[in-house]
Amino acid sequence: MPPRFGRVLISGDEIAARVLELGRAIGREHAGQDPLLVGVLKGAVIFLADLVRAIPMEVTVDFMGVSAYGAGPPSSGVVRLTADLSESIEGRDVIIVEDIIDTGRTLAYLRSNLSTRRPRSVSVCVLLDKMERREVDVKLDYVGFVIPDQWVLGYGFDLGGLYRGLPYITVLEAEASG
Ligand code: IMP
Ligand code: MG
Repeated sequence: MPPRFGRVLISGDEIAARVLELGRAIGREHAGQDPLLVGVLKGAVIFLADLVRAIPMEVTVDFMGVSAYGAGPPSSGVVRLTADLSESIEGRDVIIVEDIIDTGRTLAYLRSNLSTRRPRSVSVCVLLDKMERREVDVKLDYVGFVIPDQWVLGYGFDLGGLYRGLPYITVLEAEASG
């Protein structure tokens, strides 16, 4: 049975307005630098595509792939690298661009992994923060929205690989009624 979507949690207009604010903040705080945005595959690709157009300066982009080790839900275990950067980040001002922070394991792993490669700085920009689910503390520099503990879909967020293309963020109906 296909999933039934619940209410729209964040509309396309609300996302666009917030992404513009995040882009301006990054532009202000990284003025005079040559920042490298590192998008986390696959979910952050849509957010990154909009964010890069909202930052009022030149930036470069690269990607990393990560997934949770072994079977089980994505947030269950140890994080594993599935695709690495294409270039060195030595001396660079790196901004990790991630779709969502849940337990914090993925971003904790990425932050420490990238920090060992001698960048000038590492900061983190996430669109969504499921704050109440946090298990590992991670410093976040830019946060789009704090959301409750519900599975979200659309705007890059998937269920079994599907629904990333919805132009808004929604939740599953069963969860939305809870
Ligand atoms: P963390 O390592 O527990 O912080 O998990 C972060 C990862 O879990 C994100 O990069 C997403 O891929 C995935 N994730 C967590 N919650 C959701 C959700 O509600 N919808 C889609 N993906 C999610
Ligand atoms: Mg992800």
